[in-house]
Amino acid sequence: MNKEIAIDGPAGAGKSTIAKKVAEKLGLIYVDTGAMFRAIAFFMTEKGIGVDELDRIKSELEDIRLDIVYENGEQQVILGDENVSGKIRKPEISNAASKFAVIPEVRTRLLNLQRELAKKRPVVMDGRDIGSKVLPNASVKIFLTADVRVRAERRYKELTQKGESVNIEDIMSDIKSRDEQDMNRTVSPLVQAKDAVLVDTSALSIEEVVEVIIKIAKDRNSEFK
Ligand code: DC
Repeated sequence: MNKEIAIDGPAGAGKSTIAKKVAEKLGLIYVDTGAMFRAIAFFMTEKGIGVDELDRIKSELEDIRLDIVYENGEQQVILGDENVSGKIRKPEISNAASKFAVIPEVRTRLLNLQRELAKKRPVVMDGRDIGSKVLPNASVKIFLTADVRVRAERRYKELTQKGESVNIEDIMSDIKSRDEQDMNRTVSPLVQAKDAVLVDTSALSIEEVVEVIIKIAKDRNSEFK
C-alpha cells in the first residue's frame, strides 16, 4: 500500500499547518500545491499578463522554470533563479492564484510536477484536487474544513502576526469568493473525494486535528503503525 496522504479543503481550513505536522510525525515530505499555483499567478502578474490572455499564458507556461526544493525540511518555491516563497503569500496573490487555477493548461503543467514529487518520496500533499485528481490512489484522504468565520479569524491572526495590516471582513469576503471559484470551476474543482474522510476543524485545536488525522492514517494503512 502506498504511503501517500492527500489533504484537500477550502482556503483557511488549516491544511498547511496540519499537513506539515502530520508529515513530520510520520516521516513524510510535505508538498504544498497551493504554493505552485501562487507562483504561477505571481509570475503572470509580474509580467502584466491577465487571466484572459490565454495565448500569452500558454506561451509563458512553456518556458517558465518552477522548482520545488527543500531547505531544512521547509518547502521552497523557486521561480527562475528567485526564491519566491515569501512573495507568493500576499492576499492579492491568493486571489490571483484561484483565478489562474481555472485554466486547464496551468493545471496540467502543475499536475506533472506534483506527481513527479510524489514519485520521489512518500508525501503528505495538500490542495484542492489531490484526493480526486492528483493522487487518486492515495491510501489516506482527508477533506479538511471549518466554518467560514473561523477560517477568516485564523487567516487574520496569521497575517497580523506577520505585521500585515488587514481587515477581517475583507478576508472573509476573499475566502468566500475563492471557495466559490475553487468549487465551481470545470477542471478539477474543490471536491471531497468519495473515499475521503471529512474532518471539521472549527472546534478543534491544531494538536487535536493532527491526532485525528494520524489515527485515520493508521486505521487506513497499517504501514503507518
Ligand atoms: O492553498 P492555497 O490557498 O495556497 O491555494 C491558492 C489557490 O490555488 C487556491 O485558491 C486554488 C488554487 N489551488 C488549486 O486550484 N488546486 C490546488 N491543488 C491547490 C491550490
